[in-house]
Amino acid sequence: MQTIQIKDKTFEIAISSDKIQQEVQRIANEINRDLASNEPLFLVILNGAFIFAADLIKKINIPCNISFAKLSSYKGTESSGVVHELIGIDENIEERTIVVIEDIVDTGITMEKIIQTLKSKKAKAIKIATLFHKPEALLRNIELHYVGMNIPNDFIVGYGLDYDGFGRNLDQIYKIK
Ligand code: IMP
Ligand code: MG
Repeated sequence: MQTIQIKDKTFEIAISSDKIQQEVQRIANEINRDLASNEPLFLVILNGAFIFAADLIKKINIPCNISFAKLSSYKGTESSGVVHELIGIDENIEERTIVVIEDIVDTGITMEKIIQTLKSKKAKAIKIATLFHKPEALLRNIELHYVGMNIPNDFIVGYGLDYDGFGRNLDQIYKIK
C-alpha cells in the first residue's frame, strides 16, 4: 500500500480519482435534472471545495451563476467548533436558489452557519452539495441534498482537502494511518 507523509502524519490511499469523478458526474446529473428551471447560484465554500467545484461546474449544463465564500473551522485534524467567516457573500441572493458546494460535512457546524447566513439574506431555496460526509461525526440536524460519498470518521486529505494547509493538490483521497 502506497503511503505518503505530510508533516508529522502518514496517510494511505482511500479513494481513487476514478471513483471521485464518477460521484461528481452523478451529482451533476442530479442537479441538471432537479434545478433546470431554477437558475441556481452555486456558492463554493473555500478553500476545500475549489477542486470539487471546478470539476462539478464543468458538468452543469443549465443556466447558473457561481460565487465564493470563505470559512474556516479546522485546526490541524480537529474541528475547532468555531466558524470564522473570512470572505462573506457579496451577491444579492434574495429569491435565488442557492446550491452550496462543500468538500465535506463533518460535524455540520460550518454548514449550519452557512444555512443561517443564507436564510437571513432571504434565499428562496438552499440545496447542499457535498462531496464527502462523515455521518458518525454529525452534531447538527441538517439536510444534505447531494452527497458524493458517506465515509467513516477518519481524517482525509487530497482533492482540495488539507492537513494544516498541505495535501490539497493530491488527485486521490488519502486517509490518516
Ligand atoms: P464541520 O464544520 O465540522 O462540518 O467541518 C467542515 C469543514 O472542516 C470542511 O469544510 C473541511 O474544510 C474541514 N474538514 C472536515 N473533515 C475534514 C477531513 O477529514 N479532512 C480535511 N478537512 C476536513
Ligand atoms: Mg472546507
